[in-house]
Amino acid sequence: MTDLATGPTTAGTALLTAAGDGVDRHLSDLLVLGANGVPTCYLADPGAAHAAGSDPVLYTGHRDILPPTRALGAEWFADLCTYRPGHLPGGELNRSIGHWNTPAQLEVFEILSGRVLMITAWHSPSGTPVLNWQACGPGDLVAVPFGAWHQTSVLDGPAVVFNIYTDLPGTEQQHTSRHAAQHAETKYRSSAPVEVTAIRSGTGFTLTGSRRGRGHWGRGVQAVEPTWLREAVGPDGLVALHTSASAEHLSRLADAARTHLPTAQPRPEGERR
Ligand SMILES: [Fe+2]
Repeated sequence: MTDLATGPTTAGTALLTAAGDGVDRHLSDLLVLGANGVPTCYLADPGAAHAAGSDPVLYTGHRDILPPTRALGAEWFADLCTYRPGHLPGGELNRSIGHWNTPAQLEVFEILSGRVLMITAWHSPSGTPVLNWQACGPGDLVAVPFGAWHQTSVLDGPAVVFNIYTDLPGTEQQHTSRHAAQHAETKYRSSAPVEVTAIRSGTGFTLTGSRRGRGHWGRGVQAVEPTWLREAVGPDGLVALHTSASAEHLSRLADAARTHLPTAQPRPEGERR
């Protein structure tokens, strides 16, 4: 595992080699209903998905691909996801379910191979809806705003995405991100989804959504990797940061995130289930 400290590409190769069996997520996982019967995931054409004669694997999650590390009095966890190429019966890109992060959750992604579209949505402290999308290739970094919804779609697969997460101290919240990671009903089914998704369009994509979804969130804004995030992670990449960086290095990442990363307005009760 010493290769993990030598750079993103080598780190990714080593991680993939070390990855054992993960948890497969299927098309049917996107069709699960919440407790009140409302879909937990917005799909462009749920009828097409229901009518599909098969239940393909969309991605495989490898939770705790690396042992947790400690900084700021909290544990930092590391996961890996491998996304299959292709599109869903409704025409949208193969994708994750999507979920809301906790208000204190710092989550950072690094794409190890393939290309993905990271979609994030949140309300600013003044209540303004913000919908961002970032097209990412190998080595690119993404940080999810505190308390934001996010979802991953595959632009060029298979795609391998590594991420770390923790809950920074000082923010009250109903449950931790670790609790959410271990309880699907909390992570995926406790809040209404953002009704936006990415449809394949030629060799690219276009964002689409329900009338309520697009009407509320708008067309979306392209985001790019923030300079502060690259500087805070460092040249060796996210895997090396998690594996071999000091607690001080992780604390600097946390400080930079607190300074630069947007914080979502607490979601109104009506958006919770
Ligand atoms: Fe997340």
